[in-house]
Parts: sequence; C-alpha cells; structure tokens
Amino acid sequence: MELCFATNNQHKLDEVANRLGQTFKLKTLRDIGCTDELPETSGTIPGNSRQKADYVWTHFGVSCFADDSGLEVDALNGEPGVDSAFYSGSRDSEKNIQKVLNNLAVETNRKARFITVFTLVLQGRDAVPVEHQFKGIVDGRILTEPRGTGGFGYDPIFLPDGHDRTFAEMSIDEKGLISHRAQALAKMIMYLQKQVHG
Ligand code: IMP
Repeated sequence: MELCFATNNQHKLDEVANRLGQTFKLKTLRDIGCTDELPETSGTIPGNSRQKADYVWTHFGVSCFADDSGLEVDALNGEPGVDSAFYSGSRDSEKNIQKVLNNLAVETNRKARFITVFTLVLQGRDAVPVEHQFKGIVDGRILTEPRGTGGFGYDPIFLPDGHDRTFAEMSIDEKGLISHRAQALAKMIMYLQKQVHG
C-alpha cells in the first residue's frame, strides 16, 4: 500500500520511514508533486493535523497521513503548544528554545510533554475517504540549558521521564522507541495492518 506522509520535515520522514516497514511504501510530498505550503490555521494540534491530510487528499487524491505536534509546558499554561514552530516569531529552533528557557527562568515546575496527532486519510470504497486520528504523548521536563546535538526543535531541552538523556542526546532509534510520534505511529500502524491483513 502506498501512503504519502504530508510533511516537509526530513527528521520526521526519517523517524517514520524507520518504522513503517515493507508493507507500506512511504511517499513524500515531492514524490506526489506537491510543493504547496500545507495549511495549519485551525488553532489546535488535532485541527492542523487534519487540515494538512485533508489538503493532500483533496488536491492530490492519494491516501496519506499528516502529523501535527507541539510542546506543552505546564508552568506556561500549555505554551508553546500549537505555536511551537513559531514560538519566538520565526521558525528558529534556537530562538524558540531560548524563549522557553527565558519564560521558565525562575520556575521550579519544569513539567512538560510532547504531543502528536496523526491524521490518516485512506481511499475507501468508491473513492470515499476514510479518516482516523491517532494521538501520542510523551511526558518529561524542561532542563535549564540545552544538551545534545541530535534531533530537532526542542529536543535539546526535553528530558523524557525515566531517562537521563535528552531527545537530542539519543539516537534516532532510541527516540523512535519512546517519542510522542513513535506512539501515535504505532497506533496508526496497528490500524493499517488490520486494514491490510484483516
Ligand atoms: P509540527 O507542526 O508537527 O511540525 O511541530 C511543531 C513544532 O513542534 C516543531 O517545529 C518543533 O519545534 C516542535 N516539535 C514537534 N515534534 C518535535 C520533536 O520530536 N522534537 C522536538 N521538537 C518537536
């Protein structure tokens, strides 16, 4: 089964390609000829995820999935949340990290979580699309300074619960076992396998 992952983020593509296996052939936006900026204007993580998948289905007619993710920090009332990519005003991970650290400067409650929602749109009978969402969450806390050079986004300041290394200090395979995206993806793969194998 061919499935397009509606993302331009190479890190996410690598994380997901690792896990999809042989049953599903992963196509990129470039593979299907999509160079458009995908819409993310709903104001929520599940809403943005759905918008991106619906856009690809509507304009390109291929079975696809999209994700939308964000970092929620308890002491910041859930910020950056749906604004994670542009928290500092630009899509600059270092500036975004610095803004989180500055906002938490005198804060002792460092609890946070990454959230991902995948939206899967499959071509159903008579080309009617079937849509499902899958959520993944990983709890952790925000360090006082960045550690590690791997990963992307807020990885250098996020220490997942039960671990002593940040996501940026883990290999892609280690992060791929526990991350929010890994958990949502595992749910989606289980669903897809049922569709294929019954
Ligand atoms: P997106 O909308 O799914 O691309 O995610 C929005 C933003 O959340 C990204 O630009 C990153 O800053 C942050 N983010 C999402 N997933 C991760 C992750 O696995 N590690 C670090 N940051 C992430």
